[in-house]
Amino acid sequence: MNKNFPPPPAAPMNVAILRYSATAQALHWLTALLMFAVLPLGWVMTSLAQQNPNRDALFTLHKSIGVTILLVTIVRIAWRAANPPPALPASLPRWEAMLAKLSHWLLYTILLVMPVSGYILSSAGGHPVSFFRLFELPALPHNKGLANLGEEVHLLVQWAVYALIALHLVATAWHVVLRRDGVLERILPVQRVE
Ligand code: HEM
Repeated sequence: MNKNFPPPPAAPMNVAILRYSATAQALHWLTALLMFAVLPLGWVMTSLAQQNPNRDALFTLHKSIGVTILLVTIVRIAWRAANPPPALPASLPRWEAMLAKLSHWLLYTILLVMPVSGYILSSAGGHPVSFFRLFELPALPHNKGLANLGEEVHLLVQWAVYALIALHLVATAWHVVLRRDGVLERILPVQRVE
């Protein structure tokens, strides 16, 4: 048995964990929840036949949740600018800290690009964008070229979404199982053990 595997916890257990603010934590988990809804909706709705009676409702739900993601992301980025996140653990190797920062900024980028390209492909393509059937977003002028560009971006960038979510989950598992350095706890409320 290799004594060096798994590696020992990088941070001693008595080092205080620096946590994200409760607002940043709530915005993070709300985004995760919305993403786990918008993606399967995207897959299912595009696989339905044109005459399926549920198609319209699923498209409206997908678009509405996507627009909600855009709003939450704008609030999140503004909150982050005013309330910088806690420093990464000092035990983290430089390359890991750089990869974490890069992947987090790429995640913010796709959280903006996906809803904006979705809005462009729908609206410039002549399809109204309703927000949970409460009201319609302002429409873009009909423009086939712009709609096609939005569609290409939306369909292509989805692969970056899958890759980044996979990296995010693998990195979390790596920190929880192997490094045991309290990185997941940073984005969780304090756990009280009686
Ligand atoms: C973070 C937000 C979003 C994500 C992750 C997302 C993801 C997806 C996915 C995975 C698909 C299926 C692609 C395929 O069939 O290969 C899709 C399709 C689509 N999405 Fe989104 N979407 C988002 C936001 C939006 C928004 C805000 C709108 C419109 C306002 C929108 C409109 C559409 C439309 C119209 C399609 C069908 C495209 C086609 O079949 O050509 N999406 N989206």
